Amino acid sequence: MNKAIVLAAGEGTRMNSDIPKVMHKVLGVSMIKSVVEELQTCDLDEIIIIVSKNKRDIMEELSEYDNVVLRDQPLGEAYPYGTGFAVMQATDRINDEDQVLVVNGDTPLLRGETLKGLLEFNGENGADATILTAVVEDNHGYGRILKDAEGHVREIIEEADANEAEKKIKEINSGVYVFEGKSLKENLQKLDTDNVQGELYLTDMIRIMAEEESKITSLQVKDETEIKGVNSRIQLAQSENLLRDRINTYWMNEGITIINPDNTYIEKAVTIGKDSIIGPGVRLCGNTTVGSNCEITGDTMIVDTTIAKDTSVQSSYIEESVIGSDVTVGPYAHIRPGCDIGNDINIGNFAELKNTKLNDGVRMGHHSYLGDTTVGVDVNIGAGVITVNYDGVNKHKTIIGDHAFIGSNSNLIAPVQVSDRGYVAAGSTITKDVGTKELAVARSRQTIIKDWVKE
Ligand code: UD1
Ligand code: CA
Repeated sequence: MNKAIVLAAGEGTRMNSDIPKVMHKVLGVSMIKSVVEELQTCDLDEIIIIVSKNKRDIMEELSEYDNVVLRDQPLGEAYPYGTGFAVMQATDRINDEDQVLVVNGDTPLLRGETLKGLLEFNGENGADATILTAVVEDNHGYGRILKDAEGHVREIIEEADANEAEKKIKEINSGVYVFEGKSLKENLQKLDTDNVQGELYLTDMIRIMAEEESKITSLQVKDETEIKGVNSRIQLAQSENLLRDRINTYWMNEGITIINPDNTYIEKAVTIGKDSIIGPGVRLCGNTTVGSNCEITGDTMIVDTTIAKDTSVQSSYIEESVIGSDVTVGPYAHIRPGCDIGNDINIGNFAELKNTKLNDGVRMGHHSYLGDTTVGVDVNIGAGVITVNYDGVNKHKTIIGDHAFIGSNSNLIAPVQVSDRGYVAAGSTITKDVGTKELAVARSRQTIIKDWVKE
């Protein structure tokens, strides 16, 4: 069987954080989740995550996956430290004939296809171990790959233990390996803490196995950004940049215009239709889908929302909603969770909507709030219209029929209904239902006091 071990029990000291390192997010997704999501594409029978104090967080974070198993690494003076000791915690799950992929939990840019390729490469070569390596300009902090004259891997030297010549080696250990189950279990027993950091290094397995004439192969990753490890906030930001760049490049190749890719934030699960234009400062988050030919500009953030085609959104915040085609939103609109916006609709400046359905053709130009409301087709919502949906204890519904007209600055005190073609005069406070084709005027009459101003 193919299994994976993900190392996530380290203390992450270099992050200087109260949050466990692998719970830090890169482009909106925790590092541990990114790694596990990619592993899900590798046909693995089991994914064993080595955890420590962060167990509770990680368990919650990965609760949706039923092939994930956690193993605790004890920390403290009584125990050794290091990636080798971490892997030892998983050996009860490993059988001799398993192929075991070992991955660090702090490499969020890895691609599933690379991991799968490494497993296949190891199998095809009948190797006892295969290392994923990369040639990088900035090799700082990585273990260096030592090869003999024939190009066979002999050893991985950690930076702390490397001499000056070894430090110059640009081929580095990505922290991803495949081991054959039997030799993994046997050789883990041979690790010692005889190194500068006094840790049980998993990387020492390679020297031990090479000395025993085990077959060790290495595969150099094509895109070296994949293996970027995160040990510090600086590297966290670098990984964020790399992933953002990868995603934005992908969408530009798919026919999307991104005006300033360095300043556009698109999370991994987002999809965008052809010929849409995404302006600088836009953030598309979570499970958001933007259809074709849309224009999203300004300081806009869209979260878990589906937008059809030909819609434009300017400087607005949209959450957990569905929006049709030919809609214009903003500037400065807020569409809160649970909205269902039809087609050919205008939601203008400073409009706020929550848990509201707008049918086709609604005009809602400015400064209005609709909450828990259903609005029929071709309704006009004037400036300053407010649904008064909350009485301090409960939320109540407002229903507005087709072709209704709600004049500016009206309050609709819910529960209340305005039927089809019903009119509400500007400045009204509506407390009773308005019938079909009726006009409701609910405001005090104007009084004129003549000669009020003395000369
Ligand atoms: C490690 C490798 C290094 C490689 C680099 C790639 C070792 C000794 N070194 O170095 O060769 O180039 O990754 O990014 O393996 N962890 C535990 N328990 C521990 C210690 C660490 O689970 O006791 C986990 C950490 O949470 C982390 C991963 O193992 O996810 C790697 O540990 P880290 O300390 O970051 O290793 P590096 O110094 O980056
Ligand atoms: Ca690391």
